[in-house]
Amino acid sequence: MKKRSILFFALARVTLATAGVIVLGACLSLAQRQKENAASRTNRLADAALAEVPEKDRQRRNPFEGDTQAMAAGGKLFEQHCAGCHGPKAGGTRHGASLLREEVQQSTPGTLFWILTNGVVRHGMPVWSKLPEPQRWQIVTFLQSLQLRPPNPRPAPQNQSTRAR
Ligand code: HEC
Repeated sequence: MKKRSILFFALARVTLATAGVIVLGACLSLAQRQKENAASRTNRLADAALAEVPEKDRQRRNPFEGDTQAMAAGGKLFEQHCAGCHGPKAGGTRHGASLLREEVQQSTPGTLFWILTNGVVRHGMPVWSKLPEPQRWQIVTFLQSLQLRPPNPRPAPQNQSTRAR
């Protein structure tokens, strides 16, 4: 009887110890994951939003593509409506991610237009459907003029003025 209960306790202890190690391991990996999450949380939220754009909307063409006047107009609109959160040069603030990130810069014009039209409301990005469509496309044109590396490098045009800065 006594031997049995010793065996029982020994077994219980081993079981508990094993459970403890498992729980500890789970906690550690959770803590690690949360740390990583905090670091890249904003960017990941934003990337997820970009990935949600329906394929049909992604493919929409920007009626102002490469239009320098639209770029300038879009730059003004950006200053007025967007710079407060995304920074005066779109480099980001703690209220909104940088729009110079590769994920944004490699997005199609249609994707950016869709984001503007629908917002990312659950993450604090307002809906801009109250801006007339042409103005939204102007902003898209401006954002794309910030491109560090164009996704489809084409032979450089003769005329240098396409370089926005
Ligand atoms: C009130 C603050 C706020 C304003 C104003 C705002 N945004 Fe945002 N925006 C956000 C937040 C927050 C997100 C989602 C998460 C993040 O990027 O930080 C976001 C996301 C985006 C995204 C999604 C893509 C990404 O990966 O970041 C784009 C594009 C964008 N905004 C452009 C604009 C433009 C253009 C304007 C002006 C018309 C604008 N935003 C105005 C806060 C704002």
